[in-house]
Amino acid sequence: AYTAEPFVPDRGGLPALRRAAADCRGCPLHRDATQTVFGAGTADARVMLVGEQPGDQEDRQGKPFVGPAGKLLDRALEEAGIDPGEAYVTNAVKHFKFTQAEPRKRRIHKAPTLREMTACGPWLAAELAVVEPELIVVLGASAGKALLGSSFRVTQVRGTVLEEEIHGRRERLVPTVHPSSVLRADDRETAYRGLLSDLRVAARALP
Ligand code: URA
Ligand code: SF4
Repeated sequence: AYTAEPFVPDRGGLPALRRAAADCRGCPLHRDATQTVFGAGTADARVMLVGEQPGDQEDRQGKPFVGPAGKLLDRALEEAGIDPGEAYVTNAVKHFKFTQAEPRKRRIHKAPTLREMTACGPWLAAELAVVEPELIVVLGASAGKALLGSSFRVTQVRGTVLEEEIHGRRERLVPTVHPSSVLRADDRETAYRGLLSDLRVAARALP
């Protein structure tokens, strides 16, 4: 089975994890992507935000949530009273998955499979073990499935505080929609307000 496990160092904190992840070949996604996009933020962050996978901009720049979805997320976090600079931001899958009709054509995001999310899971588990966040904000269905299993339904649990055992640790989580779903929504204003209201639940759930 595909797995990142043999690439994950068991000491050295976030810098060691980031260095090792740059050379991960735990699944085939590293082949076509530009680079590994590891999580960003400090080990003492109180909140961890988990997205799906890097997008086109993230793949080019090597940092999570620096494209349009990230801009929207930062605005919503600030409005909800969560300092984006104090959050640790990462993704369920660390390489960009895309289709491209022809070379030099636009790269179109493709959702990762459960196999790829499972393969990449050891990185997320290692980030959780180092950061030990007080709260995890789950951004969308892929992150939810990666963390909570394939029966996760974002519509059923968004804006609520869940307590679950994840990779051997008791975690508190608030799921919400993925910020890029707000960008795609017919009624963006309503979708944005929904995201904001879920993030306010997260802000209040912080000890
Ligand atoms: N979408 C994600 O899920 N993660 C990113 O880093 C960017 C866009
Ligand atoms: Fe490794 Fe994850 Fe990249 Fe697959 S997606 S190669 S498991 S870092």
